Amino acid sequence: MIKIKHIDITTENIEFLAIPVCENKSIHADQEINELVKKAKAIKGFEGKTGESIIFHNPEGVSASKVLFIGIGKSDALKEETFRCMAGKAVKTAISQKAENIAISSPGATKVKIKADKLASALCEGSILANHIYDAYKSEKKTIALKNIDIITETGSVAKLSGLEEKAEIICASTILAREWVSMPSNHKRPEEFATMLAKTATENGLEVTILDEEEMKSLGFGALLAVGQGSTSKPRLVIMEYKPEGKIKKKIAFVGKGVTFDTGGINLKPTGSLEDMKMDMAGGAAVAATLIAVSKLKPATHTIGAIPIVENMPSGDSYRPGDIFKSLNGKTIEITNTDAEGRLILIDTLTYIAKNYKPDMMIDLATLTGACMVALGEKIAGVFSNDDEFGKRVAESGNAVHERCWLMPMPEDYKEMLKSDFADMTNSANARWGGALTAALFLSDFVEKTKWAHIDIAGPAYSKKPSDYCGAGGTGFGVRLLCNLIDDI
Ligand code: BES
Ligand code: ZN
Ligand code: ZN
Repeated sequence: MIKIKHIDITTENIEFLAIPVCENKSIHADQEINELVKKAKAIKGFEGKTGESIIFHNPEGVSASKVLFIGIGKSDALKEETFRCMAGKAVKTAISQKAENIAISSPGATKVKIKADKLASALCEGSILANHIYDAYKSEKKTIALKNIDIITETGSVAKLSGLEEKAEIICASTILAREWVSMPSNHKRPEEFATMLAKTATENGLEVTILDEEEMKSLGFGALLAVGQGSTSKPRLVIMEYKPEGKIKKKIAFVGKGVTFDTGGINLKPTGSLEDMKMDMAGGAAVAATLIAVSKLKPATHTIGAIPIVENMPSGDSYRPGDIFKSLNGKTIEITNTDAEGRLILIDTLTYIAKNYKPDMMIDLATLTGACMVALGEKIAGVFSNDDEFGKRVAESGNAVHERCWLMPMPEDYKEMLKSDFADMTNSANARWGGALTAALFLSDFVEKTKWAHIDIAGPAYSKKPSDYCGAGGTGFGVRLLCNLIDDI
């Protein structure tokens, strides 16, 4: 439970109070808090620098058992993300101290020069997201999440901020749902099982759900998608979920998410070192399904469609081979030059199907598509590609605004040269070593009909081996906050 409220910290009993401390400025509207901060700063080694923290037990002036001071650095560098991280650290520390409830003191919005609603939302998001422990497969549950989170704001501001915590709670619950799906081991989310899992959650949340099975896709002509799945004993599925607003519809938007439940590389088998985390190759699909769950609760005026093609890329006596040629749903033939470039194959048939049958105003796919995108942008920034510059910019900005960082990448038409095949209309993997993220995006672009489209390569930020301030190790849920934010201003 999270609540934005105002309380008198001198009289109200608080179990665990967290206070952000700026290095060079007093940022709290409440004088009692500024006095406490002065006392903390009097301790040697605590100046309010980022990374510093100190705990007081039963300090004078407040009725809190523990007060945690968290350094947030200099005032000119304060951003919304500073407060997501600060709230995340506060929650993680409280959990490690076996607390049940936390109160996080918000600074004065004007003092940190951040809009009051953005500041409150950032504090809510950081604290809710950090209050998640993925221990489904641990026999012993060593840490327990907090029961209550209170965000304490200035007097008079609570009414203006009303409803923000509910919205943050919906979006963060979906982010956590995506994280758990991504972290789930592949033996528990094989295609048929994973499809049922997504469909069940979607149905329970009032979404309309359609599942296409192997037979249906075969008769419709999903040649590229089915090729990837043919090596596995668990058969491909296409899950489509739909949210239709009750009143006037503003726009129709479709999301497509890569759902490879495990990517061995197929006959072009990945080497040791590249296989271990490939349970995360359905992170795009997880983000899309989780976003639709959020949409079902947020009820925007946008008609929203989510499509998740689900396969397992396995080598076997039945698997597709390099050199094989398949006909995709839109009729183009594709020569397989690398069975590890499987994501784009399942995406193109889905993009074709959605563009033709749903005719959305715009379409966005999310996919852990290329290692090359990680080489270009590292592990924390996604690459955005689009057939419409304005739309691409909008998508990237929508991520950057919520600190799901994106960078707009080019789509050089002449690079399509690298996808030329001697035998079919095109190859699935470029014949040159460089620019792999770009050729993958160019490959997809041929299958979106005339739809305004963007592709987000989330290979880097979808998964993290190391925990961060408001995320544990494993799936990050990247994409859910970006898409929810985008729907807001469409
Ligand atoms: N799932 C991988 C991409 C990936 C790599 C995601 C590392 C996350 C971390 C994708 O299917 C893949 O194997 N791509 C190949 C494409 C190549 C064969 C053209 C790659 O990036 O090497
Ligand atoms: Zn692959
Ligand atoms: Zn893959």
